[in-house]
Amino acid sequence: MADNRTELLERIAKLKRQRRAVVLAHYYTSAEVQAAADFLGDSLALAVEARKSDAEVLLFAGVHFMAETAKVLCPDKRVLIPCPEAGCSLADSCDAGEFAAFKARYPDHTVVSYVNTTVGVKALTDICCTSSNALRVVASIPRERPVLFGPDRNLGEYVRRMTGRDNMVIWEGGCHVHEEISAEGLRSLRREHPGARTVAHPECRAEVAAEADFVGSTAAMLDYCMGEEASEFIVATETGILTEMRRRAPRKRFIPAPTAGGGCAECRYMKMVTLEKIVRTLERMEPEVVIDEEVRRRAEGAIARMIEIR
Ligand code: 13P
Ligand code: SF4
Repeated sequence: MADNRTELLERIAKLKRQRRAVVLAHYYTSAEVQAAADFLGDSLALAVEARKSDAEVLLFAGVHFMAETAKVLCPDKRVLIPCPEAGCSLADSCDAGEFAAFKARYPDHTVVSYVNTTVGVKALTDICCTSSNALRVVASIPRERPVLFGPDRNLGEYVRRMTGRDNMVIWEGGCHVHEEISAEGLRSLRREHPGARTVAHPECRAEVAAEADFVGSTAAMLDYCMGEEASEFIVATETGILTEMRRRAPRKRFIPAPTAGGGCAECRYMKMVTLEKIVRTLERMEPEVVIDEEVRRRAEGAIARMIEIR
């Protein structure tokens, strides 16, 4: 297995050189996919990197909306996606047609949508955000202007709590991975590890976030755990981030928060990306992300504003 992995990583390295390609991977992908990455990051960092990369080909190891975001920002590059069927329950919880009807009910609202959306929803959006900059994006909108926030209800409620903004309408969507993390399970884990610090992603339910010492995006949780003195951390988000936490701080202990079913929070979509699929995609130079130019242009402004408010 280890040999097979080494062989696949070598083939990927060779193909990347031949194709003048770079691999961008999200922290939630598997450890072996992360090993093939030229750049590893959270949603915001990956969008920024896609835009500034001078490679001709971007292979996006992540879910579909992330590769779409890269294509919106880089229309002249080839954006390859090894696993186009890797969706996202959060993006799926917000259909563009339904979102357009919802938006029509609030014509004076500034539309902020999380980057975990389809390009069709982004085209209806004034400013996109990620969990890294959601607070800054909403704070950039004059306080008297009402905000329509979508699609993640937990992130929306978190932003409302933190900004004290009561003129926010929130779409009722959610990520099944984060919503399955159990507050009860987290409380009992904390009792077992009284010295541990707990971090949580704002896509978790409010009662889970309330148990945490720190709430923040994937990258912010990583920074927090690296900067804190504690030797144990309970991590309430997708377990892929633990790979990077352990790599950066091998002496610290990182414990995944439990789900209601007793397992760990794992995004099956992110884990659909494999080294074999990366090899095949680089060999064939497909599947490639293709977006209607009119829709792309409408979505571009919202994503560019998100990057400006980094
Ligand atoms: P971030 O990368 O913005 O933390 O998002 C988490 C997520 O769920 C990505 O799918
Ligand atoms: Fe989507 Fe949730 Fe998976 Fe992130 S963790 S890709 S929000 S389903």
